[in-house]
Amino acid sequence: MKSLHVGILLLIVYSTAALNQHQSERYQKFKIQHHNPVMSATATDCNSVINGRNISETNTGLCKWTNTFITATLDQINAVCPRNGRGLITSNNPFTFVECKLNSGDNRPKPPNCMYKVLQPPRLAKRIVIRCEAGFPMHFERCV
Ligand SMILES: *[C@@H]1O[C@H](CO)[C@@H](O)[C@H](O)[C@H]1NC(C)=O
Repeated sequence: MKSLHVGILLLIVYSTAALNQHQSERYQKFKIQHHNPVMSATATDCNSVINGRNISETNTGLCKWTNTFITATLDQINAVCPRNGRGLITSNNPFTFVECKLNSGDNRPKPPNCMYKVLQPPRLAKRIVIRCEAGFPMHFERCV
């Protein structure tokens, strides 16, 4: 188990070696907010993943109105960014995703009390638009 952890750590260090600290933080945040290969399109999964990962709106810390998880491997998502490329990139291939929508009134709570529903239809594959820097995704823009 320990060697697996070291291996994963080395992989992370290696794969983000080209990123400066600010880029690295944004890449980590992108992964936390938008990457989940095993997520199912259920409110239960939206709630457990979003609250479990403490995903909240930047600046306010309140529950985000919507949050989209791309259900693909990290390699597949990273491959959307051109090598060392930057800018807003639309994927050539469609991705499946789960779009969680906040299920509460105007009085938005904070994690761990966010309550979500899944936007229908779940599991529809669409092309993703992401912002890349130094060849890595920094921001999820939308599905098209
Ligand atoms: C969750 O995120 C908020 C805002 O970034 C932070 O203030 C808080 O300490 C975090 N809570 C946990 C349990 O990590």
